Amino acid sequence: MSQIRTVKEANNIVEVIGERIKLDAAGINYKACCPFHGEKTPSFFVNPSLQRYRCFGCGVSGDVLDFLQNFDGSTFYEALKTLADRAGITLQEFQRTREDEEREILLEILSLAKEYYHFLLTKHEVGQVGRAYLQSRGTTSESIKIFQLGVASSAWDSLLKYLHHKKNYSLEQIEKTGLIIKGKGGRYYDRFRERLMFPLKNHRGQVVGFSGRSLSQDVKEAKYINSPETALYHKSQLLYGYSELFREIKKKEQVIVVEGEFDMISSTQAHVNHVVAIKGSALTQEQITLLSRVAKTIILSLDADEAGVKAMERAIPMVKAKGLDLKVIDLKHSPLLTATHRAKDPDELAREQPKLWRELTESAVSVYEFLQNHALDVYDSSKPDGQRQIINYLAPIFETIDHSVEKEFYIQRLAKALNVRESLLKADLTKFGTINKSTNSTPQSAVPATANAEPNTPPASLTQSEAYLFFLLFRFTKDQFAKALSDMQAIQFSSSVANRLREQLQQLQTHHSSEQLLNHLAEDLKQVLMEALAQPAFEAMVGAIDLDKEWSETLRRARREAVLAEIKAINEEINALDSVQVRQPEQEARLNELLAAIVQKQNALKKAA
Ligand code: CTP
Ligand code: MN
Repeated sequence: MSQIRTVKEANNIVEVIGERIKLDAAGINYKACCPFHGEKTPSFFVNPSLQRYRCFGCGVSGDVLDFLQNFDGSTFYEALKTLADRAGITLQEFQRTREDEEREILLEILSLAKEYYHFLLTKHEVGQVGRAYLQSRGTTSESIKIFQLGVASSAWDSLLKYLHHKKNYSLEQIEKTGLIIKGKGGRYYDRFRERLMFPLKNHRGQVVGFSGRSLSQDVKEAKYINSPETALYHKSQLLYGYSELFREIKKKEQVIVVEGEFDMISSTQAHVNHVVAIKGSALTQEQITLLSRVAKTIILSLDADEAGVKAMERAIPMVKAKGLDLKVIDLKHSPLLTATHRAKDPDELAREQPKLWRELTESAVSVYEFLQNHALDVYDSSKPDGQRQIINYLAPIFETIDHSVEKEFYIQRLAKALNVRESLLKADLTKFGTINKSTNSTPQSAVPATANAEPNTPPASLTQSEAYLFFLLFRFTKDQFAKALSDMQAIQFSSSVANRLREQLQQLQTHHSSEQLLNHLAEDLKQVLMEALAQPAFEAMVGAIDLDKEWSETLRRARREAVLAEIKAINEEINALDSVQVRQPEQEARLNELLAAIVQKQNALKKAA
């Protein structure tokens, strides 16, 4: 048996989900308010026999491993590891190596440092200056707690003493976390001094580094310093706030990307919780990949300075390759803003005008609209050379829009703004889009076309009456089940998955007890069956029906529908042949065959009624 299967069978999905959200028994299922979208009445179902979950509100479904990946935001292997640990199973690939052990020690040190800095900020007198600073910036004690903020004292070796002398970690080990630095004379000292400390966590919530904002009056001090790249901390992968807020992001299916720690924190204080900070303006492919696990739309709220605009341009192909939408909060042109508020960053806006910040986050514009407005600001659209520059700038950007209708919208908008004929503008855009792309290697061309592959085709599903029939089938007792299943043999279901499901059930029931039956179904069939077994609408009717009567009526209806589907298919073929002007003899023969078939089917239908 595969490891994955062993681990899955050792973990009951009802218990695993039940450890995370409150589940209530509901017939043969368990139900809850869906943790993946906002709702007040439960439409999230967990079925113990199928070991699957399904939400009838937002459509998510899966097995216990899917649940953990979505709920905890972990990768497949992390989810597998979590479940293996839970069941006391040692995974082959997870035999700990020396690197694993060292990694764990570094994580311990970083976690202790976080506790230490947090203690100084919240409990110790050296934290006074940090507390006063946070108060002046309107940071609440709740935020301090959620994001585990801290303070580093002005001493050269206070953290070093704590970790080395008190907690006995070696200086070499501590140095590998980036928290201390070896000086010229060989003496170690604390990297972060007299700073407000933000723990930087990976997507699993483990502290991997820190960012420190200066609390010093000394202007020579850098405003922010960060952990260096270490075995654990990689700036390009980090999203500040992700591990605390990804569930909010998932609910909204949108994420607002801001530059700084304070922008993120102040936004949450204004009750905009689907937000992360990238610490600067460069959004990387790794960060986008992480966000694509939880969001469908990325909304950038970066400074509209040169670096910010460059970052937005670069984000277009990367975001597109993940199949996401890219939007921008346009603080420069938004009609919601007055002149006094235009220059502010999200931190100040969220603090001074929380309601306005909320509105702004809901009125983000597409990145194309933003960049067009930007181009019209930068170049003079009333002069021919300004128009040329605008077209040169926008052509390769507009070219990345796949949908012609959407592209047309921006072209019309630009034609109006430039006051030129649309056909002329189109010709120029085509010409200069391609030229720009081939002469300089913009990131557009760096993205492989395959990255934009079709999403997985959705699994096949049952028609509503097929689903109901399978639902009823599982209401029968063990003894009646076989007979009911054989009742279904005569039907040629219109969806092929229904036929497969029936056949597999038939095969399996001769080998397995009814409890094991479902467990041995193919995974895709389990998913299909889950649709039938956990439909709230079906469940609601159960008390009110006479099972035998309902069964025979539903069977009859299913049979009728199957015949109707066949008739429809035949009709389509007839129509196609009918519209052929001059038919070949074999086409003529086929047409006659079909006409005969339809008569026969219609008779069958009369009998079924
Ligand atoms: N940053 C960084 N390293 C630097 C400078 C900035 O990591 N040397 C990151 C920080 O996360 C910071 C963000 O970039 O929050 C934005 O920097 P900056 O524009 O300097 O932030 P301000 O808004 O000016 O800083 P603050 O709000 O703290 O006064
Ligand atoms: Mn700021």
